[in-house]
Amino acid sequence: MAPDPLPGPPPHGGSLVLRLAPPAALPALDQRAAGLASLTVDQRTLADVDQFACGALSPLDGFLRGDDYRSVVHTMHLTDGLPWTIPIALALPDELRDRLREGDSLALRSQDGATVAVVDVESLYERDPRQEARLVYRTEDDGHPGVAALYREGTLLAGGPVTVLRRPLPRFPRYHLDPTEARAAFAARGWRTVVGFQTRNPVHRAHEHLQKVALEHVDGLFLQPLIGATKDDDIPADVRMRCYEVLLRGYYPADRVLLGTLPAAMRYAGPREAVFHAILRKNYGCTHFIVGRDHAGVGSYYGTYDAQRIFAEFDPAALGITPLFYENAFYCRRCAAMATARTCPHDDAARLTLSGTRVRELLRTGEPLPPEFSRPEVAAVLGQAFAGT
Ligand code: ADX
Repeated sequence: MAPDPLPGPPPHGGSLVLRLAPPAALPALDQRAAGLASLTVDQRTLADVDQFACGALSPLDGFLRGDDYRSVVHTMHLTDGLPWTIPIALALPDELRDRLREGDSLALRSQDGATVAVVDVESLYERDPRQEARLVYRTEDDGHPGVAALYREGTLLAGGPVTVLRRPLPRFPRYHLDPTEARAAFAARGWRTVVGFQTRNPVHRAHEHLQKVALEHVDGLFLQPLIGATKDDDIPADVRMRCYEVLLRGYYPADRVLLGTLPAAMRYAGPREAVFHAILRKNYGCTHFIVGRDHAGVGSYYGTYDAQRIFAEFDPAALGITPLFYENAFYCRRCAAMATARTCPHDDAARLTLSGTRVRELLRTGEPLPPEFSRPEVAAVLGQAFAGT
């Protein structure tokens, strides 16, 4: 019997590329891995490996080979012409430089020593970190957290297919949905159009505004907070998930919203990461994707709407997911409503906007977040999380 067709829109490249080995293959793979050179990888690479396992990075079957790496960095497309904006690369430490040749395989281990994957190294190549920083992050400044992470890595990269032996336990099992599971959940709810929402910050009313405006146009909303590595002063994922739980209970129709998690690391690559985030959500089965102000940005490295403008550089059909763009949203005291410059005629004095830094300041000093900025239930969760810090 033919397998059931995958519900939802076609994944990037046409099909989900799942790299998790079947359980029956494990003993032989473990035995093989024991004889290989090995590399203990950090949380960011572990997250990439896990995303290969579940197909979130389709059509990639593993870390980029040299030709695809160069194509992605310079043209934002894979060599076959498919849009791809972030180089998913495996950096090797210097001690492996003389031990590994193209055609060898490499075992990847987690910090606790477990073998998580085997990489068949088809391609060994050098990166130019400054050039990669300039082209991908639009800055060479190591004050940028993504650039700093890039500079910390080695310059020798390995590319080739990844076979995943074991995945980490989900951090939030109730909300863990792989692409196949998310697609099945959308289909079960009868959603034909689904908008994905990426976020790394505690949910506030501007987020809610975007999500609800989008929900006026599509069947379902897939909230997918990123729960992988973030920079130190970002608010931890468990607090952010609690914020969503209280918000959803009070303010969203249960049959129109699904809360999941994206177990990926944040790169803060602004425009390029916005496109990358959209492609991942396409693999999870979304048809639309929200891009607001300074998506995936940090500091003042990117213009407010650069992450929207970049989409014009792609063939919409090749991208295969529709971005929904929103202007900077705020609460306007005169309108007594959430608004944007497209809908509100009042000046800045009437508008309430709080930067992430200001929010953290208020929380640290124990001051309540204004209800125009945060729903009281969410403010309470954040207040508790910060009490005594
Ligand atoms: S991000 O790094 O994941 O982009 P954040 O969680 O703050 O950070 O943003 C999630 C999404 O909401 C992004 O698409 C972002 O552009 C958008 N966004 C956040 N705040 C606003 C705002 N005040 N107005 C419009 N869009 C916003």
